[in-house]
Amino acid sequence: MNNTLEDKYLHDSGSLAKPPGDFSGQVGWECPSNVALIKYWGKRPVQLPMNPSVSFTLREAKTKITVDFRSMPGHNGISLKFYFDGRPAGSFGERVRNYLQQALRYLPFLDRADLVINTNNTFPHSTGIASSASSFGALALSLCSMEKMIFGTLQSPGAFLEKASFLSRLGSGSACRSVYGGFSLWGRTDAREPSTDEAAVPLNTAIHPSFSDLCDTILIIRSGAKEVSSHEGHRLMEGHPYAAARFSQAQANLKEMLGILGNGDENAFAVLAEEEALTLHAMMITSRPGYLLMKPNTLRAIDRIRHFRSDTGLPVCFTLDAGPNVHLLYPARVAPQVRSFVESNLSVLCEDARMIHDGVGNGPVMLNG
Ligand code: PMV
Repeated sequence: MNNTLEDKYLHDSGSLAKPPGDFSGQVGWECPSNVALIKYWGKRPVQLPMNPSVSFTLREAKTKITVDFRSMPGHNGISLKFYFDGRPAGSFGERVRNYLQQALRYLPFLDRADLVINTNNTFPHSTGIASSASSFGALALSLCSMEKMIFGTLQSPGAFLEKASFLSRLGSGSACRSVYGGFSLWGRTDAREPSTDEAAVPLNTAIHPSFSDLCDTILIIRSGAKEVSSHEGHRLMEGHPYAAARFSQAQANLKEMLGILGNGDENAFAVLAEEEALTLHAMMITSRPGYLLMKPNTLRAIDRIRHFRSDTGLPVCFTLDAGPNVHLLYPARVAPQVRSFVESNLSVLCEDARMIHDGVGNGPVMLNG
């Protein structure tokens, strides 16, 4: 019996070891990044979350990947050439190679193929916006397209996306939410069936119109690499004095957020989204060693956003990723007023006045396959 996705895909891998002859082709996907409203922070092996999370998939911040593949009879082992922006990519190429090694358990045909991967991001360069979710989303979708092309499996869209979500999680936890457009949920919760720690599920049937066109203006407070990686941040949640309280808070907040996304309560949304963002950073500050990813202008932006909300009564709020940049969230109907506030009050807080006007997107798009 297949109780878990892990069991199911390991079972299926038996028939994916021997391709039915020589094969070659090209597959490709464009996959957006996503922003969590209920945060995943803390994990256990292998890339399983300590609490469920909810996110929406962006529209503008995307990674494009194409994979050219051909069979290499008699070959064993991953054969990979990896290019970013047309140039051989060092450290990320290594991360992808390790990832493919891990994915072999579920896609054993990968070590009989020669792979040439070309990738690039549509994000403005060096904005400090995380690209691992979109990258591993696009890669996992491409690997599923390869499986489908070679073996004729994964014909139903549901089965295809479920496996892509499972596989992308192994590369970057939050990536598993990016394979779906709109809102998605990752992690086991009794508030929604089905839900699992192994892959994300789409949430779109339950989203109120106030949130289905949510805008996200990403204020680039500081670009460049973070001082402490997410990998390290997750690790510091092990033995963290407030970890248990955080994980149970996230369970409760997730239920509340599912209710809010369904009933359209914009005030409750603002309170909860901001609580989640600040709690994420509180966990960082109170880690050992503690660290701060927010910058003075992050706090100034938060202050101005809160004053703007109380002065105007408009439904604007913020969330934060594991970094200094601020995601300003608001429904599309108030975009004109919010955009002029952004120009007059927030752009001065951004590095070189940089920002990205993004929002809820429709999810990945197949380029080839
Ligand atoms: O997927 P990772 O390991 O990069 O972790 C992402 C964690 C946050 O972005 C801070 C929160 C989330 O749920 O996406």
